Amino acid sequence: MAKKDGFNLYENKSTLKWIVLGVSLVISGGSIFYTNVLVNKLKIKEKSFIRLYAKALEYTVSENVTISQNINFISEEIIYQNNSIPMIIMDTLGGIYGSINIEIDSTWTKARINNKLRKMVASMKKDYPPIRIAPIDKATGEPYYVQFLYYKNSSLLTQLTYYPYVQLSVIAIFGFIAYWAFNYSRTAEQNRVWVGMAKETAHQLGTPISSLMAWMEHLRADPDFTNYDILTELDKDIHKLSLITERFSNIGSVPKLKEEEIILEVNKVISYLRPRISSKVEMTVKGRQENIYAQINIALFEWVIENICKNAVDAMGGVGKIEINIMEGSDWRVFIDISDNGKGIDPSKIKRVFSPGFTTKKRGWGLGLALAKRIIENYHQGKVYVKSSSPDQGTTFRIVLNRNQAPHKLS
Ligand SMILES: Nc1ncnc2c1ncn2[C@@H]1O[C@H](COP(=O)(O)OP(=O)(O)O)[C@@H](O)[C@H]1O
Ligand SMILES: [Mg+2]
Repeated sequence: MAKKDGFNLYENKSTLKWIVLGVSLVISGGSIFYTNVLVNKLKIKEKSFIRLYAKALEYTVSENVTISQNINFISEEIIYQNNSIPMIIMDTLGGIYGSINIEIDSTWTKARINNKLRKMVASMKKDYPPIRIAPIDKATGEPYYVQFLYYKNSSLLTQLTYYPYVQLSVIAIFGFIAYWAFNYSRTAEQNRVWVGMAKETAHQLGTPISSLMAWMEHLRADPDFTNYDILTELDKDIHKLSLITERFSNIGSVPKLKEEEIILEVNKVISYLRPRISSKVEMTVKGRQENIYAQINIALFEWVIENICKNAVDAMGGVGKIEINIMEGSDWRVFIDISDNGKGIDPSKIKRVFSPGFTTKKRGWGLGLALAKRIIENYHQGKVYVKSSSPDQGTTFRIVLNRNQAPHKLS
């Protein structure tokens, strides 16, 4: 949910995707349709030319003297004009009379040429029926020496048929590469921001914390300062500040993972949270097995559990139950299910809860789950997702971690 600026980026992002998809489909469809119209027009043109060509042949072959020299000349012109449509002429007995616009190498043997032409005739037959050429004998008025003209599309027409597909594929490939490159550079940039901000925060916190520690020692050493309660509280706060620094410094580097006992670690987080949240929230941790180990970085893992539990408390409005179930899977995986009986997540928003900046809270930053996802997926090679959620019933988040593939030593 975008707040403050009133501009809903997430809603717009998916609408934009549909618009782009829709427009590309319309363009592709239009382009294919239009080329098809052109192809059909050209086909009609070529067909009528072939008919004319056949007629011209008929006239020139014919020994009909009534045909004037002029018409003969025109006929020859027409025949001469065909420099693009491949044709083969055969007689009724199946002998090849001749071919035009078909590539034949002059070094080929007669048998080879014949073989090629026959094959072409077979394929031409499939596309268009041959045209009959039948010159009329003047004396008998009967046709003599009947021949058949086989033909196919000119190479221009053939190319035009495939053209839109080739063009669209090239555009699609280019679009895909551009999208991938854009996405890649955006992710790289986001990574740099996360890492840079975390490093900087850890670095800046470092100096005042060491200074605070020195002041603590100073107070401890002072025999006049006897308010030990203040010292204890100060110590706790300094400890918490150091923990925060450790978290940020871990996010800013490649954190070390260690095999840790998960039930114990989760319980630690719960006891840390316990005094800080409403007493009307009941929290339980259950392990299906006794000791469950997984590869984690404690500082970062605690952060994740804390974020998810805090969200659960928010969703319940401070009254309810949080249940954490920890299980060992059969395939070197460990599952941590965190369930609450809060208000649930709207089904249309489930996909978005992990996006940075997504929040439904007045004072939310929408970074808690984005951070959790980053920690689990990038630093622990695990998974975190909404396992189930129904409005007013509650939500279950699942974290999947990996454990060491070597069996544990029983100690
Ligand atoms: N357990 C939960 N129950 C209901 N909604 C939740 C729960 N956890 C997270 N959400 C939703 O996901 C959003 C994002 O959470 P988060 O990233 O922690 O940011 P923030 O807590 O700052 O809002 C919350 O605003 C809320 O709408
Ligand atoms: Mg949160």
